[in-house]
Amino acid sequence: MARGAHRDAAKIEEHTVSQIDPAREHLIETYRKKAKHYDITTRLYPVPGYPQRAQRLRAVQALGLRPGDSVVDVACGTGLNFPLIEEVIGPGGRIVGVDLTDAMLARAQDRIAANGWSNVSLVQSDAAGFDFPAEVDAILSTYALSQVPECAEVIAHGAAALSGGGRWAVLDLKVPGNTPGWLAQLGTAVVRPFASIDEWIMRRPWAAIRAAMQEELADFSWTELFFGTAFLAAGSRSPGTPGVRPRGSGPQ
Ligand SMILES: C[S@@+](CC[C@H](N)C(=O)[O-])C[C@H]1O[C@@H](n2cnc3c(N)ncnc32)[C@H](O)[C@@H]1O
Repeated sequence: MARGAHRDAAKIEEHTVSQIDPAREHLIETYRKKAKHYDITTRLYPVPGYPQRAQRLRAVQALGLRPGDSVVDVACGTGLNFPLIEEVIGPGGRIVGVDLTDAMLARAQDRIAANGWSNVSLVQSDAAGFDFPAEVDAILSTYALSQVPECAEVIAHGAAALSGGGRWAVLDLKVPGNTPGWLAQLGTAVVRPFASIDEWIMRRPWAAIRAAMQEELADFSWTELFFGTAFLAAGSRSPGTPGVRPRGSGPQ
């Protein structure tokens, strides 16, 4: 996708999500219930007063966006990152928001309409099966990728679709190192309504995300935020990297 080449009207494109497993069904049901009040309740996430907006801003800044850039927001939810991205890319840029949960995307659609953005398109898809548009300038995922068991594959597929010098940034929560068991359990109780936290803690997705970003990208950086309760991982595709087509774009 060339910089500023598309200015699609907002719409939700549905990709067939085949073989939804019980964990994903639970996740979709959870976010269907949360969607209506997500923008309010997320201010309490993971605890009241958490500097989420500052972290989001930092993640968007890590993309090094320019006017006219194309950006994929993976698991975009209700589109809370869109205003921050729009501010930089302007009407000549493009955002593609991808999410598994229809109700979250419906809220994102409301936000798009309320702001009169004509350069945002929405895709209902599992991030694990999403075909990234080729030559995208930047990919972002905030507070979501650690919920995707195939997070390493998503990072690899996205990295393959980036234009030379394009940036990938992941902001998400993690369990701080050396956390006493009782504190981890307390955190689990606080965050439980948002996802299957026990499985999340056991899986340690932040480690897989870190390894995949390091493997797939140049200029890799890893920054722990707010006492190690969150991280910002970022990197770019080397300008000279031979073209690797994103999955589903035909024979290599
Ligand atoms: C905590 S919300 C974060 C939403 C948004 N990124 C934000 O920063 O506000 C997590 C989102 O991830 C989405 N999600 C979880 N697993 C997903 C998957 N496998 N593919 C696509 N979206 C997924 C959920 O539907 C939900 O909208």
